[in-house]
Amino acid sequence: MIKQDALREAREFETAYLPFITDEERPAFHLTGGIGWINDPNGFAPYGGAYHLFYQYHPYANHWGPMHWGHAKTTDFIRWERLPVALAPDTKADRDGCFSGSALELADGRHLLVYTGVRRKRLKDGESVDSQAQCVAFGDGTEYVKYEGNPVLDEADLPEGGSGRDFRDPKVWMEEDGTLCMVVGNRASDGSGRILLYESRDALHWSFVTILDASENVYGRMWECPDFFPLGEKQILMVSPQEMQPMGMEFHAGDNTAWLIGSYDRATRKFTREHVQAIDHGIDFYAPQTLLTKDGRRVMIAWMQSWASSRSVPQGARFTGEMTLPRELTMKDGRILQRPVRELEAYRGKRVLYENIPVEGGMTLAGIEGRILDMTVTVRQAVTGNPFRYFKIHLAKDGAFMTTIRYKPETETIRVDRSRSGFPYDIVNVRDFLVRPVDGCVRLRIILDKHSLELFVGEGEQAATFMIHTPQDARAISFESEGAAALIDVEKYELIIPQEERKENNV
Ligand code: FRU
Repeated sequence: MIKQDALREAREFETAYLPFITDEERPAFHLTGGIGWINDPNGFAPYGGAYHLFYQYHPYANHWGPMHWGHAKTTDFIRWERLPVALAPDTKADRDGCFSGSALELADGRHLLVYTGVRRKRLKDGESVDSQAQCVAFGDGTEYVKYEGNPVLDEADLPEGGSGRDFRDPKVWMEEDGTLCMVVGNRASDGSGRILLYESRDALHWSFVTILDASENVYGRMWECPDFFPLGEKQILMVSPQEMQPMGMEFHAGDNTAWLIGSYDRATRKFTREHVQAIDHGIDFYAPQTLLTKDGRRVMIAWMQSWASSRSVPQGARFTGEMTLPRELTMKDGRILQRPVRELEAYRGKRVLYENIPVEGGMTLAGIEGRILDMTVTVRQAVTGNPFRYFKIHLAKDGAFMTTIRYKPETETIRVDRSRSGFPYDIVNVRDFLVRPVDGCVRLRIILDKHSLELFVGEGEQAATFMIHTPQDARAISFESEGAAALIDVEKYELIIPQEERKENNV
C-alpha cells in the first residue's frame, strides 16, 4: 500500500514530539536525528552556501523501519540546524523505503537527490524480497519533488548477473565537463559485491559504463554505500562490506568499512586497486560518505553505530544513532590519514597542559576530567629504567564505570575496552589494532562528546570510534602504567558549543 501522506505525518510527528527532547539529552556537537532511529548519512554535499546532510530515518521508533530521509545543514560541521524531513516512502517506486543515496547542486541551482527506492514483496514460499532501484528528486534545500518517472535505473540496467534485490546506495558527482557520474553497490550472481559506474547528462537518463571493482567474496560479500573520489595522487573507492571474515587486526568479522586505494584512468574509466586500508578500528562506524569543501578539503562523516549492536540502546532513549565528527582526509606515504575537522578548534575553551609526567601505577591529574573534551596524550618510555608493559587511559570513569584505552609497546597494539560503559546487553565491547610509534612515542587524540569516544592515533594513521552509554556523572580520567614508569604529555581542552541557536532552529 502506498502511504501518500507519509511525509506530512513524519513532519507533524516531529513538530509534536521534538520539543520534549532536551539539549541535555543530546550530544554537544555530534548530529543526532530528530527523534527515533537514524542510520547512514546521505546526501552529504555543499548546497546554497551550507553543507547539507540527510540521513536514513525512522522517526517513530528506536529501531529501523520504513526509511525516510531526515535533514540538517551546517556551515562549520560542528553546529547543525535541523530541517524538516525531506523524503518519505510515499510513491510506487519507493513505497517500502527511501534507502541511502547522495546529493548534488546542479548548474541551474536545483538540489538533486539520488536514492534507492525499495519495493518489497513476499514470494510464494514466504520469503520476503526487495526490489531496489535508483530514484531522483529535485528541490530547493527544504522541499523536494520526486521525479514522476522514477525509478531512473532498475534491474533492466544491470550488467550480466546483477541482482535487482541488492542494487543500492548511489553516490553522484559531476565531472568538469558536466557529465553526471554515479557509483552504486550491486550483488553479482556469486553473491559477492561490486561497484557499478553509470553516467548521465540530465540525471534522468543513465547508462551503464563499467564495473569499477568487485569483492569476489574476499573483502566481504555485498558492498554497501560506495563513494569514489581523488585524494592526493590517488583515487579512492570507499565501501562498506558486509559479512567479512576477519583479516589479521585490520578487519573484524561482519560489517566493515574500507578504502580501496588505487589509480583511475578517466579516459578508459578503469580503476586499478593497489591496496586496501581499514577506515576505522572501533565498533561504531559504518556507511561513511564524503564531500569536497569549498576550500578543497575532502571531509568524511559516518554513522556512529554498528548494525550488530544497534539494539543495545538504553531503555527509554528517545532517539538512537549519531553521526561521527566530520573528519578531514589526507594522503601520506600511500596511506590515508584522518583528523577531526579543523573547525572544532574554534570551540576549544580552557586548556590544561602537563609535560613529562611520569606515570607509575595509577594516577590522576588536576583539571583532567570531563565528557565533552578534546585531549591529546603523548606516551613514551622513561629515559632510564625498564620499559613499561602497558599504558592505560581510563575515561568516563567512576566507581562503577570506565572505558579503557590500552597501549602495549611490545606488540605495538592498542586495545579499547568499553565493557563497563553502560550498555544494557553483553555485546562486542573490545577492539585491538596495530599502531606505529614514531621515535618510541604514541600520540592519542581523544574526542569525547557525552555518548562517544573518537580516538585518532599519531597524525591520524588510525582512528577508532565507540559509542558509550555511561552515565554523564562518570567524568573521571586516570592514567596507569604497568611494569615500569611511562612518560606522558597531556594537553586537554574543554569544548564549549553554544546551544541556543540550535534550539531556535529546531523544527
Ligand atoms: C547501510 C544500509 C544501506 C541501505 C540502508 C538502509 O547501513 O544497509 O545499504 O541503503 O542501510 O537503511
